[in-house]
Amino acid sequence: MTPLGIGIVGTGNIAGGYARDALTHPEIRLIAATDLDPVRLAAFAESHAVRGHPSLDDLLADDHVDIVVNLTVHHAHYEVTKRALDAGRHVYSEKPLALRTEEARELAELAVARGLRLGCSPSTFLGEAQQTSAGLIRSGRLGTVRAVYSEVNWGRIETWHPAPAPFFEVGVRYWSLRVGIRSRWTEAFDGSRVRLPCRSRNSCACDDSGARDVAPCPQ
Ligand SMILES: NC(=O)c1ccc[n+]([C@@H]2O[C@H](COP(=O)([O-])OP(=O)(O)OC[C@H]3O[C@@H](n4cnc5c(N)ncnc54)[C@H](O)[C@@H]3O)[C@@H](O)[C@H]2O)c1
Repeated sequence: MTPLGIGIVGTGNIAGGYARDALTHPEIRLIAATDLDPVRLAAFAESHAVRGHPSLDDLLADDHVDIVVNLTVHHAHYEVTKRALDAGRHVYSEKPLALRTEEARELAELAVARGLRLGCSPSTFLGEAQQTSAGLIRSGRLGTVRAVYSEVNWGRIETWHPAPAPFFEVGVRYWSLRVGIRSRWTEAFDGSRVRLPCRSRNSCACDDSGARDVAPCPQ
């Protein structure tokens, strides 16, 4: 069996884990990567012994890349996945597939039209807890659900994550779960506020006691 070649787009924090996991699957082989940040790309390419392509176009011109793994930031998911599908590559993307429903639908339709596989990190919607909840609601075991409450409370992720920007936009994931379950809620509500306006790990001395009294970070 010839392993399928993987090309990673976006060699950030999560890419190392993907590279290590790929080693445990003999049917795939990580062979290439690209990133907008050449320094990051070079370090990744060297430590995982893969080709570092200077651009997405170069990676897509690499005949050995069968599957593109899209590990870019949320805002780039749609464009990178679309270009990869247009170039005839199967794609596995980190979540979310796209930022707009119509874009996600377009990608799914494009993959079908071209006979390509399109997968997306499923933990938001296809995870065990989410599917168990959805099954209970759909089966009617919970009766009529009259209110739904969700809360994202990840604390100060910037105190331990080296580049936490993608995690500042996670609230939408819980909304998408509700929409995805497609039940008729009587009411859905969220409480949302910016508790800590200063969200920089290294450049600001915010304290944890309450952001209202802390001046916004100058950057
Ligand atoms: N890090 C985690 O623990 C984690 C866990 C689950 C999911 N994710 C998801 O994985 C994705 C990546 O997360 P991360 O933490 O590695 O982010 P990151 O910011 O560390 O890395 C993203 C990389 O993508 C590159 N990039 C952005 N746009 C690009 C483009 N158009 N072409 C090529 N490269 C581009 C950036 O230069 C950066 O190096 C996000 O969608 C995130 O939600 C991350």
